[in-house]
Amino acid sequence: MRIAIGCDHGGFEHKNAIVEHLKDRGFEVNDFGITEPVSVDYPDIALAVAKSIAANENDLGILVCGTGIGMSLAANKVKGIRAAACSEHFSAKYTRLHNNSNILCLGGRVIGVGTALELVDLFVDTEFEGGRHQRRIDKITEAEN
Ligand code: RB5
Repeated sequence: MRIAIGCDHGGFEHKNAIVEHLKDRGFEVNDFGITEPVSVDYPDIALAVAKSIAANENDLGILVCGTGIGMSLAANKVKGIRAAACSEHFSAKYTRLHNNSNILCLGGRVIGVGTALELVDLFVDTEFEGGRHQRRIDKITEAEN
């Protein structure tokens, strides 16, 4: 599985820990930065990661900013992207199971690194359930088109 990842200055430490963790687990990780803890505009990173998934260059994405919210707002502007800001385990699992979310957004100022790694594991290890949930996602896609 190819995983795109990116952050702004609010999620730098978390992003680096997630990159290491996912590489240790054997995933292909494509890091869209930032590579130094400098202030950047989160939409630039969110859009780059989201576009790479929409273009099928990556399968799933992880975005980290201060809250996870700015990243999700920006990423969801890209057609075909379902980005979910999560800060607890149930949502990180069910947004894959029921929403077939393709980007997990985390808040570096909301949760600790340990929790972030657990949420990432749940997200990448959970498969979409399909069935009645596909019909609901089709309605979102229809609205998008
Ligand atoms: C940056 O200070 C902060 O606004 C950003 O990381 C994020 O929390 C936006 O949603």
